Amino acid sequence: MRTAFRGSVFHCIADPGEQDSEDAFVYFDDGLLIVEDGLVVELGKADELTESLSADTRIEDFSGKLIVPGFIDCHVHYPQLDVIASYGEELLDWLHRYAFPREMRFADEAYAHKVAALFVDELLKNGTTTALVFGTVHPHSADAIFEAAAAKNMRLIAGKVLMDANCPEALRDSAETGYEQSRQLIERWHGKGRLGYAITPRFALTSSEAQLEAAGRLAAEYPDVWVHTHLAENHAEVEQISRLFPWSSNYLDVYDRFGLVRERSVFAHCLHLQDAECRLLAGSGAAAAHCPTSNMFLGSGLFDLRRLRELQIRVGLGTDVGGGTSLSLLKTMREAYKVLHLQQQPLPPGRALYLATLGAAQALYLDDRIGNFEPGKEADFVVLDPAGTSISAHRSALAESISELLFALIVLGDDRNVAATYLQGRRA
Ligand code: GUN
Ligand code: ZN
Repeated sequence: MRTAFRGSVFHCIADPGEQDSEDAFVYFDDGLLIVEDGLVVELGKADELTESLSADTRIEDFSGKLIVPGFIDCHVHYPQLDVIASYGEELLDWLHRYAFPREMRFADEAYAHKVAALFVDELLKNGTTTALVFGTVHPHSADAIFEAAAAKNMRLIAGKVLMDANCPEALRDSAETGYEQSRQLIERWHGKGRLGYAITPRFALTSSEAQLEAAGRLAAEYPDVWVHTHLAENHAEVEQISRLFPWSSNYLDVYDRFGLVRERSVFAHCLHLQDAECRLLAGSGAAAAHCPTSNMFLGSGLFDLRRLRELQIRVGLGTDVGGGTSLSLLKTMREAYKVLHLQQQPLPPGRALYLATLGAAQALYLDDRIGNFEPGKEADFVVLDPAGTSISAHRSALAESISELLFALIVLGDDRNVAATYLQGRRA
């Protein structure tokens, strides 16, 4: 059964760069997105494609609204819905004071399932159709988020956290149990439907060398699973890394020593990097997740997009809830704009959208399946409503170009501007 979605349609086919090169995106003011069996068949001008539609094609009319690819969140912690909006600390104090105590509650399996279901609903409400997600140390925390995502047919990558050092006893696994639990979860979930597994050492501060070694062994045994961790978020963190791993030449070297820097490795934050670390990220095919709301909230620092993209390092956006303050990638895009503005770097609207869609798909090595509307890709998309709030309605009515409209949505938008979210052509 074919469905044709009519409305304004915008997607990126490459990185538009700092000048928002028009060659990098495609826009139809009155477009038609044709979907069959969950995949994109064709995208074009409505007046050109409408005639050729077969009689049984269903039309869903979103005229006056903007259809864009589903948003992709490259770094978020679902258990930290319990931590979001906790006042006043930098990373390491924040972890011990807020994050760790709240993550203990996920020892309760029923509780994990309840929060996982809420989390997935909130992602979809915000137009997020794919996410790379931290659980807690408890293996059932991963089961809970995978089950919640599978129930919605959402594309989602997650993992149970590995941590066996510098954290409360109640949140510790060990090198052996962490390895074995992760291996079982990979076997249970990786590649099942739209789900994927990420080996998830929290960060090098909370893993022994034995645990990092076990994680690296797993990463070698399962080359197509993801590796997901944090890197160089905070000055005190970086300083402690050099004391705990005195043999290392820099922070990323610790992960690299254990085989954790490779394609499908995603490092959240990447704020305080040496040149050698940037070169290793680039050469290995690993990716950085830029999490602006978190970086501002925890006072961590400013992400240097220009420096990383000049080396062609893969970059996607992450909300990093609960260090981050919102699950909305619209809000995350506008904070990225501000973070870059503070460094005299432009972030035009097409490129902001790229970082939340195709760029993120490239960061996750999923761009053969998602990220834009090329024929054959999975039809995950968001219908944005410029009139979602009275202010966005007022401002967007004055927009004279798609760039202006998109920028208004990025600066003013939130879940009220998400009219609908579609997963493989079906409304979520
Ligand atoms: N580094 C290690 N754990 C965390 C976490 O939970 N949140 C953030 N923002 N950084 C981390
Ligand atoms: Zn994080």
